[in-house]
Amino acid sequence: MKQDRILIIDMGSTKNTDVAREIRSFGVFTEIHPHDMTAEQLSQIPEIKGIILNGGPHRVVDGMAVEASPALYGAGVPVLAVDHDGQSPWPEQLEDRLSLMKKFVFEDCGAETHWNMDNFIKEQVLSIQEQVGDGHVLLALSGGVDSSVVAGLLIRALGKQLTCVHVNHGLLRKGEPEQVVQVFRDEMGANLVYVDAVDRFLDKLDGVEDPEKKRMIIGSEFIRVFEDEARKLPDVRFLAQGTIYPDIIESGTKTVKSVKSHHNVGGLPDDLQFELVEPLKMLFKDEVRECGLALGLPASMVYRQPFPGPGLGVRCIGAITRDRLEAVRESDAILREEFEIAGLEGKVWQYFTVVPDLRSVGVRNHARTYEWPAIIRAVNTIDAMTATIEPVPYAILEKITHRITHEVKGINRVLYDLTPKPAGTIEWE
Ligand code: XMP
Repeated sequence: MKQDRILIIDMGSTKNTDVAREIRSFGVFTEIHPHDMTAEQLSQIPEIKGIILNGGPHRVVDGMAVEASPALYGAGVPVLAVDHDGQSPWPEQLEDRLSLMKKFVFEDCGAETHWNMDNFIKEQVLSIQEQVGDGHVLLALSGGVDSSVVAGLLIRALGKQLTCVHVNHGLLRKGEPEQVVQVFRDEMGANLVYVDAVDRFLDKLDGVEDPEKKRMIIGSEFIRVFEDEARKLPDVRFLAQGTIYPDIIESGTKTVKSVKSHHNVGGLPDDLQFELVEPLKMLFKDEVRECGLALGLPASMVYRQPFPGPGLGVRCIGAITRDRLEAVRESDAILREEFEIAGLEGKVWQYFTVVPDLRSVGVRNHARTYEWPAIIRAVNTIDAMTATIEPVPYAILEKITHRITHEVKGINRVLYDLTPKPAGTIEWE
């Protein structure tokens, strides 16, 4: 299948992703590559139509000169140098910038528009089938956006040659494990192993207060449970992962230091050797969602807000107890329901409740109570490195407070967290 592409060369610009996404929005595929690509590396990439030196032809980053590799000029395709810091002309206005890029992509490079989700899905189905042959693939299906879309693609490409393992560690939101089973097993007909590991996780976490220790236990226990399931399926040669393009970009290019280290199912033991299947690794998050919708996944799954791997475990502050964990889960469900009713669901980046291990005096039905508070957190952010507070209308907060204090066992007070990041992190632990 034909797929013209424009290479974005990372010359130390912070705007690589923006430029890549803008050109993809024209229907032309883009890839981000390091500035010192060799002719050999370039020759491995098919259908290059043009090259953008993003950040200008020469740059100094952290005192180090960054020069575009001569091979880039010798590739026989048009080269455009753009500099966002004003050394060479690069329009401030988005509209002017888009028309400059359009002119380059279509008039100078003659690229054709083949980049769309239907083509992507067709292409991936073929390439997954080619990679896997008659082999068997294993997928840890958390129900998050990325693993769900991987599941959707692999079910289409491989049907029963895929086994999805859904580990319920007891720290998922209300209704989530049920939705995973319903969508993937009942509706899409996937091989799905549902593992009820709630007791196993909560027993291991019993009495553990330190947030990082909690994270470590949840992470390593997850690998153990997954490993146990993998060993029961002896003929599995492939492991699918929901790696997406920002994971690869953020792991650090030549000029950008690593922001976060990403690991999905890392740390499996040596005797469990898999070949990776990563069908989303060239997609940005919005494209992953578009792909999910095109595959028929429910919008509630595809547009889910981000949810941390350790789940509600880091929102049940300190040592997790089953009753307080239920209070987190139930108050979170009410918050989500009310945000949906109020039309805030797609508008606010992340929102949840936190229940600290602290009690205060209250009154219910003329009797004294001594119970926990639920804390509402609702934030907006671009990249989760900094965040601002969503000013939730007072009437909505009042309704949520009424419902939580009346419907959730163990909660007699509701607080609203006003702290941006920094000073607070988004999660409380
Ligand atoms: P913080 O709390 O660091 O969170 O401001 C930034 C974003 O990361 C999510 N988060 C995590 N995600 N494992 C994850 O997969 C974790 O241990 C973890 N801790 C925080 C958080 O929900 C927010 O979106």
